Amino acid sequence: MMSIDVKSLIHEGAALTDRALESLIPSVETVPASIHGAMRHSVFAGGKRLRPVLVYQAGITIAGALPKGIERLGSALEMLHTYSLIHDDLPALDNDDLRRGKPTCHKAFGEAIAILAGDALQTRAFEVLAGLECPPAATVQIIGLVANAVGTVDGMIGGQVLDIESEHKKPTPELVDAIHRAKTGALIRVAVVSGGVYGGATAEQTARLDLFGRKAGLAFQIADDILDLTADSATLGKTPGKDQATEKATWPAVYGIDQSRRDAARLIDEAFAALEPFGHHADGLKEVARFLVERKN
Ligand code: IPE
Ligand code: IPE
Ligand code: MG
Ligand code: MG
Ligand code: MG
Repeated sequence: MMSIDVKSLIHEGAALTDRALESLIPSVETVPASIHGAMRHSVFAGGKRLRPVLVYQAGITIAGALPKGIERLGSALEMLHTYSLIHDDLPALDNDDLRRGKPTCHKAFGEAIAILAGDALQTRAFEVLAGLECPPAATVQIIGLVANAVGTVDGMIGGQVLDIESEHKKPTPELVDAIHRAKTGALIRVAVVSGGVYGGATAEQTARLDLFGRKAGLAFQIADDILDLTADSATLGKTPGKDQATEKATWPAVYGIDQSRRDAARLIDEAFAALEPFGHHADGLKEVARFLVERKN
């Protein structure tokens, strides 16, 4: 494998995303100012932009170079991710005060505006998707895939429902697998798949990216659970130890921390196998996947 500086690859992808988000989200002067302030507070609080970076690397894997206009797809997924975080932190869900090293949206703007800011990021995301610069058939396919990934059946919202309904219960392997694949895995997977579709992937190539995205998405949430147990608040930018306090159904709660680490590493190796036919075009995508489980925050 060619040597790739994954830190600068992620840094550049994040910068590209930030510039696009800056132009796609209404300014704080736009009326009603409070909601645009709240949307911007959470979007520009310092997220890692890993879903957009996966979009770009999947696009490169298929097209051989960064497809024109793909930063709008990355930005739309980052808006959906940020919406999910704003709602995840609400008192009715995880009740968190700290996110991305800043006060959570509802702490800074109140619950009503935080709920509406999440809703607004979701609708703006789909508006941006509708205007993508790829062929109309690909745009329609991407909109369907993304809507499904954030929906109730094996999607983000369904996973969040399972997550909160599983608190204070003894989790089973089947349950934690279902929660993780849905609440977090689905959006990671659709980042990889939609980036490929934007780049012109064939059905066979899309299926390979889908398999890769499934494995990497599950590994990502296992890493999130491990960090909740092991990281400090300053590094994490959120309050650690919350999962044990609320007896969440996490991977370490079922398998222990050592097995969780091994499972995350194994899933990444399995994910790599799906990318074999892409050769060195997939090097960047592989490096980002490895970062998903080796990250410190
Ligand atoms: C955290 O996601 C929430 C989960 C879905 C597990 P990230 O770790 O990608 O958070 P940011 O975007 O960098 O803040
Ligand atoms: C959040 O999972 C998943 C979504 C936001 C959809 P967590 O509740 O584990 O995420 P953190 O740990 O608060 O970031
Ligand atoms: Mg949660
Ligand atoms: Mg949470
Ligand atoms: Mg977590």
